[in-house]
Amino acid sequence: MRTQIAIVGAGPAGLTLAMLLHRENVDCVVLEVRDRAYVEKRVRAGLLEQNTVDLMHELGVADRLDREGLEHNGIYLRYDGANHYIDMAKLTGRHITIYGQQEVVKDLTNALLEKGVPVHFEVGDVALHDIESNQPRVTYEHEGQQQELTCDAIAGCDGFHGVSRPTIADHITEYEYVYPFGWLGILAEAQPATDELIYAWHADGFALYTMRSQTISRLYLQVPADEDIENWPDDRIWHELNTRLGNVNEGKIFDKGITPMRSFVAEPMQHGRLFLAGDSAHIVPPTGAKGLNLAVNDVRLLAPALTELVRSGNTTRTDGYTKAALGRVWRAQDFSNYMTQMLHDLGGGSFQQKLQLARLAYLARSEAAARSLAENYVGLPAEPEF
Ligand code: FAD
Ligand code: PHB
Repeated sequence: MRTQIAIVGAGPAGLTLAMLLHRENVDCVVLEVRDRAYVEKRVRAGLLEQNTVDLMHELGVADRLDREGLEHNGIYLRYDGANHYIDMAKLTGRHITIYGQQEVVKDLTNALLEKGVPVHFEVGDVALHDIESNQPRVTYEHEGQQQELTCDAIAGCDGFHGVSRPTIADHITEYEYVYPFGWLGILAEAQPATDELIYAWHADGFALYTMRSQTISRLYLQVPADEDIENWPDDRIWHELNTRLGNVNEGKIFDKGITPMRSFVAEPMQHGRLFLAGDSAHIVPPTGAKGLNLAVNDVRLLAPALTELVRSGNTTRTDGYTKAALGRVWRAQDFSNYMTQMLHDLGGGSFQQKLQLARLAYLARSEAAARSLAENYVGLPAEPEF
């Protein structure tokens, strides 16, 4: 089989790239190791920057996002038992939108299949070959048959645990910091007791109050990195959430899991005809809500470069992809690290706590400080295509 671009991974990066390429009449095939139901149910991100929402509109996949997404104007920073509002709409003129990642994934998958773009789920044994040539290949197993896909380039959109980055391990430098804590996240059938997200500093550790709808709350608690979820029966979770966030509305917990936290960047994001995008190239701690938004920005930049490559064989733009994408990636790394360090129990004792509280108090009283946080959080305007 032959296509122009083989896309490995049907997460936000891979699916958005397929939409962008289809718009340019570039052929692609998406290969996904999991089944469709699993990918569409996997609970992860929820916060979309305006840039991401704008791109979904451009791609014609925002009807349900417009109906069901919750537009937000700001966030609360909570410390010493009180909420302090950062009015991001006023400070930046931009908004953020709550809409579950799995809903974005569903909308993109439906749109691609409607347009006849092949998205193959449940593929096995994916391996990438000849990436230093102009005709790379992907081999995989699908519906009991061994398959080979020849293409002009491969987009490695297969997340942090995929095959793409390891394939070029000898050609990249990895920058990594692993935090000694993770987030325990729940979804609960409960009306959110807050109009905006609450990021809470507490001596027991960080907590976040977010939501998915008027009837579904999403809440997170800082826990040790190696924590066993078995140690967290529902009543302990609610007790700790109430302690760290003030009053939360309780309800039936229907999803619960622990995510480790790391900062990670692989450079460059390309070797030969393999291009990394999204979590396969970089991970940020979720405190800045940047991961999905970075993944979408990568492919926004990658799509026109790949289009030029397949049309003319010219590699000028693909050669510039790493530099173009990494500017935003490192900005987001710094911001996500800043939010994480300001709000979590870092184990540094009372001196560190006092510094964190001084930073929070500065944000509450200085418009300049609040604006700096706000413009990073809502997302700096999209850089022009290069
Ligand atoms: P993924 O979503 O990981 O998709 C990769 C796909 O590749 C998967 O479907 C996987 O099954 C598939 N795959 C893996 N290996 C193979 C293989 N060998 N062959 C074929 N397919 C393969 N980001 C935000 O922007 N805002 C937030 O509010 C936010 N909150 C978060 C909260 C939590 C608890 C977590 C865990 C993450 C959060 N993120 C957030 C980050 C966000 O979820 C990720 O950055 C995003 O999923 C990255 O998209 P991706 O397409 O690059 O990778
Ligand atoms: C979410 O709604 O899941 C969410 C929101 C903001 C974050 C992280 C996760 O920083």
